[in-house]
Amino acid sequence: MVLRANAVEHEESATNAGKFSMTDQAFVQAGDTVAIASDHAGLSLKETLREDLEGMGFTVLNLGTNDETSVDYPDFGRALADAVSDGRAKAGVAVCGTGIGISIAANRVPSVRAALVHNEMTAEMAREHNDANVMAIGARVVDVDTARACLRAFFTTPFAGGRHERRVAKLSAA
Ligand code: RB5
Repeated sequence: MVLRANAVEHEESATNAGKFSMTDQAFVQAGDTVAIASDHAGLSLKETLREDLEGMGFTVLNLGTNDETSVDYPDFGRALADAVSDGRAKAGVAVCGTGIGISIAANRVPSVRAALVHNEMTAEMAREHNDANVMAIGARVVDVDTARACLRAFFTTPFAGGRHERRVAKLSAA
């Protein structure tokens, strides 16, 4: 029921805002730097998404991991969040097995809003309502095509502003 109500609201706002393209209203423009990081469980998907980001015209800051040696997702979530927080990157993509651990780690850094997405709708809503600046995703949860669709949706959807500005501001006010 809640999901259905949200879907209707989302449809209405998408209709009002029209079709978005990366060259006008998007929060990150071609040429901007986007950071990406994963643990070992997210490595393969991270590499696919890294190539897609490059194909979208972004400069990619790859923060690892870069081989299948078992590593700890908090280290990579923190490295990614630091890059977004200190301005080395305008946005980020975080991948682990479920996306849960690395999103928790990233969200411990002030000014980072990491959203765990599972499909195009959640990727769009993360931008439109939450102004998320990090997309987190689980390589063991979604298939590669879905993850790629999430990436495109996340990076082409602008923040809707309006009533959402107040709510997003409250996220950093605590
Ligand atoms: C690694 O096995 C796994 O725990 C990690 O990738 C992630 O899913 C944690 O949230």
